[in-house]
Amino acid sequence: MAEKLQAPRGTFDVLPDSAALRERLLEQVASPLFSQAGYGRIETPTFEDTALFARGVGESTDIVSKEMYSFVDQGDRSLTLRPEGTAPVCRAYVEHGMHKLPQPVKLWYEGPFFRQEAPQAGRYRQFFQIGAEALGSDDPALDAESIVLAARLLERAGAGGTRLRIGSLGSGAERAEYSETLKAYLRENASGLSEDVVARIDLNPLRAFDAKHEGTQAVLAGAPRLLDSISAEDKAHFEEVLALLDAAAVEYEVDTTLVRGLDYYTRTLFEFTSDRLGAQSGVGGGGRYDGLVEMLGGPATPGIGWAAGIERILAAAEAEAPPAQEPAAYVALDEGADRTAAFALLLKLREVHGLAAQIELAGRSMKGQLKSASRLGAKTLVIFGGERGQYDAAVKNMQTGEQTELTGLTAGDYFDRIAEHVLAGVKA
Ligand code: HAM
Repeated sequence: MAEKLQAPRGTFDVLPDSAALRERLLEQVASPLFSQAGYGRIETPTFEDTALFARGVGESTDIVSKEMYSFVDQGDRSLTLRPEGTAPVCRAYVEHGMHKLPQPVKLWYEGPFFRQEAPQAGRYRQFFQIGAEALGSDDPALDAESIVLAARLLERAGAGGTRLRIGSLGSGAERAEYSETLKAYLRENASGLSEDVVARIDLNPLRAFDAKHEGTQAVLAGAPRLLDSISAEDKAHFEEVLALLDAAAVEYEVDTTLVRGLDYYTRTLFEFTSDRLGAQSGVGGGGRYDGLVEMLGGPATPGIGWAAGIERILAAAEAEAPPAQEPAAYVALDEGADRTAAFALLLKLREVHGLAAQIELAGRSMKGQLKSASRLGAKTLVIFGGERGQYDAAVKNMQTGEQTELTGLTAGDYFDRIAEHVLAGVKA
């Protein structure tokens, strides 16, 4: 036997039960929520120029330095399977001149993303995100609207045990100044820090707040806080966001140590976690990225958004797959039945009458066909038989057991006469 092949490490197949849950999340929860809020759907390519992420997400981040699936194509171009959606959406905003549209421009997306992380429960190499980005305004109400959408999405998806942490990274000179203060503090206390953090003092000192290393955590407990040094304007912006979240009854905790693994963030930063998840407790997160569009060659354009992992939302919702649609009719073939006519009947039930209908497709005996029909929960059973052009059928209502015998059906009327009884059985 040939060697069995498996899906690549860290990836998974979405089988029908899980596909049904995902479809419900998208169609019944996300789509109506976003369209009510004026967000339009965007789809960007699955791969982009590597430079987009290197520049947009930041060379010093784990995502860019360790986790990207990059490859050189036949034309010698360096391309990367997208690890995230914000930089691509900003690229599309610039490429399509969306700054000329009334602002803000509000977009949402869903699709696969790729990061070469060490796989574990809740952490995959191909995963799916739902995300939302709003560009072209720095109004704190846009931040609040975006965060409320994320909160409502999680709520309506049934994700339980969630917690929202929020902070502000500030902007401009104060942020640069704080970065220098923190670097100096980390250098003074370098003996207590992990090697990793020491190596990143100059590149990305803020990430030290994310470290799991005990010594580092002890050093950081005494570190100066960014939130205390942001400008009065940024502070007022942050407070307005919080006031609007209060008005929306969205609960949050202000976290002065919150950092996230992407370099483009400024001002508002937030993360949702769920205690129903294991170590990978982050369900979704986001923030403002007021410098990103400009960094990608566009006009200075503020923006805010978030993304949430679909696998993590579903895990936190512990949702059960919705039952498969029960067929209105199951067409069973009597011995010697005209299979062509039965097939035509099946299509007519589906396409003219809009009914879910199934036919025997595995050559089962009559007994096996009856079993199949009841396993599928068919509402009516049509036993189709007779000669070519001269058909008969028994239509059985599976709920009441009532059965109607139809004989002398012709090639011209058998569809309609059978359908009439199926429809009556469905309505009953
Ligand atoms: P992120 O925090 O890197 O942010 O990812 C968002 C969410 O994607 C996470 O909270 C998690 O649920 C899910 N996720 C990330 N990596 C994995 C993985 N390896 N396996 C399973 N799920 C994962 C971003 O991607 C930003 N683009 C969010 C954003 C949008 N910020 C502003 N706008």
